[in-house]
This record gives sequence, C-alpha cells and structure tokens, in this order.
Amino acid sequence: MRQPDANKESKRLSALEAVKHVKSGMAVGLGTGSTAALAIEELGRLQNTGELSCDYCATSYQSMQLARQAGLRVFPVESFESLDVSIDGADEVDPALNLIKGGGAAHTLEKIVHSLSSHFVCVVDGSKLVSTLGERTAVPLEILPQAINVVQHELERLGAREVSLRMALRKDGPVITDHGNFVLDVRFDSFHPEGMEKELNSISGVVENGIFARCRPALVIVGESAGVRVLNP
Ligand code: A5P
Repeated sequence: MRQPDANKESKRLSALEAVKHVKSGMAVGLGTGSTAALAIEELGRLQNTGELSCDYCATSYQSMQLARQAGLRVFPVESFESLDVSIDGADEVDPALNLIKGGGAAHTLEKIVHSLSSHFVCVVDGSKLVSTLGERTAVPLEILPQAINVVQHELERLGAREVSLRMALRKDGPVITDHGNFVLDVRFDSFHPEGMEKELNSISGVVENGIFARCRPALVIVGESAGVRVLNP
C-alpha cells in the first residue's frame, strides 16, 4: 500500500469539487488512489443520505471494495456502453493536461474506464503539477510476466534511461497487478507524450502504459490550501 496521507486536505477539496459533477441517474467511473478514495467516500455519503443515486464501475479491487463498503452499487466495467462521468487522480499533470498515472498499478483499467467516459474529471493536489511529464515520475508499464526480457530490450532500443521492475512491499517479489501482470517503471531523458504513449503500447507484451495523452481529462481540479483551481485544456 502507498502512503495515502500526504496533502490529504488539498486532495479532499479537489475530490469534493469533482463530486459536484455527478448527478442522480448517471453512470460513473471510479478511479484508484488516495484522492479517488476521498471522492468515493463522499459519493457514498450522498448515496446514503438519498441525495444521489447512480450506477458505478471501479478501476481496481481497491476502489471496488471502498465503493461497496461505502454503499455504492458497483457493476463490472464491461456492463457499461459508456459512462457519463469518471473521477480519478494522477501522478503528474503537464500544462496540456497530459497525465502520468499508474502509481497504484491500476492504469490499465483506469484508461479503459476514462475512454468510456464523456467527462473525465482529474483530481490532484498542487504537488502533481509539472512543466514536463516525467520530471519526477517514471512511466509505469503493465506487462505480461513472460515478456519481461523482450520489453526490456525494446525499451533500451527506445533510449530508456532506467527500467525497474516494481517490487511489492508486503509480499516477496514483484508487484502483481489486478490482472496478474508485472509493472516496469521506466524513465526517459526526453518526453513526447502522444508519440510515446503509442510507441510503448506497440511493444509485444506491453498491456498498457501510464501516459494519458490520447485520453486526457476534460478538466483537472487542483486542491490547494486556499481552495480549488480548475484547469481546462
Ligand atoms: C493508480 O494506479 C494511479 O493512477 C492513481 O490514480 C494515481 O497514482 C494518483 O494517486 P493518488 O491520488 O493517491 O496520489
């Protein structure tokens, strides 16, 4: 489990603002991570007071469990043709609202859910804003375990500076995703979000990478000590 409490109040402000985009009767996608969890908590509160009644799908076991505990009706992602809105955090946001996600290894289902969504609302605290993607965060790649050598060779050929297999904290060995795969964290010296998102996914054995350039949010809500700031594309 990651450290959830850094900037919690800023994250809460952002999450509460995002929940205002949800109206009764909507189909809603729930992201993963500490900021999305605060939105799930608030959606549960509104469901339980009768102020909101929606159908939900989740991007991970973590958010599915949180949502069910909060009293939300959660259905499999594949039962939705489309979603009215989705709410999720990010690890980095650049000025064009390209994102890096996957700090919690949930980016594959997150990308599927936000691709189904008409209105992807991204919720972050100010520490996630960067001038160039990759400044602080490596790009996560979910890969089939059998493909590790092939993917590493291809990443070298593409000029990756550093590639590391993400290791579990309270389990021996690597992180295993909700889909039974490994995660490689990859650093590059230069960054071209759209081209790289496509190129990384063309490597055999890569299931999905954590660059969200073709699936950008409709808006980013930044929680800060003074309140929230909304970034539009
Ligand atoms: C999950 O894999 C990630 O994409 C998260 O959405 C991202 O890491 C943001 O998490 P926090 O809200 O906990 O910072």
